Amino acid sequence: MKKYTDLEDIDNISGIVEEAIQIKKSPFQFSGLGKNKTLVMLFFNASLRTRLSTEKAARNLGMEVIVMNVNAAWELEFEEGAVMNLAASEHVKEAAQVISQYADCIAIRAFASLTDKEKDLQEMVLASFQKYATVPIVNMESATAHPLQALADAITLKEFATKKKPKVVLSWAPHPRALPHAVANSFVQMMQRLDVEFCISHPKGYDLNPNIVKDSTVIYDQEEALKDADFVYVKNWSSFQSYGEILSKDPGWMMTQEKLKTAKFMHCLPVRRNVVVEDAVLDGPDSLVIEQANNRTYAAQVVLKKLLEQI
Ligand code: CP
Repeated sequence: MKKYTDLEDIDNISGIVEEAIQIKKSPFQFSGLGKNKTLVMLFFNASLRTRLSTEKAARNLGMEVIVMNVNAAWELEFEEGAVMNLAASEHVKEAAQVISQYADCIAIRAFASLTDKEKDLQEMVLASFQKYATVPIVNMESATAHPLQALADAITLKEFATKKKPKVVLSWAPHPRALPHAVANSFVQMMQRLDVEFCISHPKGYDLNPNIVKDSTVIYDQEEALKDADFVYVKNWSSFQSYGEILSKDPGWMMTQEKLKTAKFMHCLPVRRNVVVEDAVLDGPDSLVIEQANNRTYAAQVVLKKLLEQI
């Protein structure tokens, strides 16, 4: 593996999931692999899980880790040919090359703006670092994708599936703020590559990018979608068509124990209790959210291991 910016960088999903599960059983077995290697993590946005689990994964492999909150540094310019007489003090052309002098791998978190659809779809931040950095890039959630989360979710599904081809539902939920599409996008792409019966359920107007959804089933009636589900992945996202807008806050879409029945509940976290999902689900025995968060370490670790093997 030369980079991990989207799921297409994995050519064998079941193989990497199995390897992550083996690493989880013995997390320090490759602790010499990252000796004298440095991971620089750049955060343009806040994080709890991604920051801690990726750092833990790197340290398990023996890497040094440098974390930088980019918004506390010089404001970066990303436009080619920009006349830099406004706020930005440094162009990503220099910044990415400079950071590459200190890093053997650069991991980046940079959310969608949700205001400029074209720029978000172009993945301006991630793509610029890919273009100008001279070391491998890892996506810690970009404008359109969260492949480390999706890999952790695939590991969790593998661990908890009790049948060969489980039914998995991605169900939209209300939220007071407009949220990006990255988690939902990568989850859809991951489900398209796994042997699962998969459908997406959301109110009309919340269709995800058709280039991501492709021929995945969409059922606008949540009750119908949830029928016989084995796993229910709940997530809010803002409208893609009316880009970044909140079209509905309908509490009827909140996940409840009554709707979940015997299915396992999944969510990437952070989650708004009693808005996205009721307490009874999160506090009940069918919630996998803590195990998903735990698996973020092994998702990151298997990815970093594969990158280190190529450096
Ligand atoms: N799920 C996830 O990426 O969590 P953080 O935003 O806390 O990193």
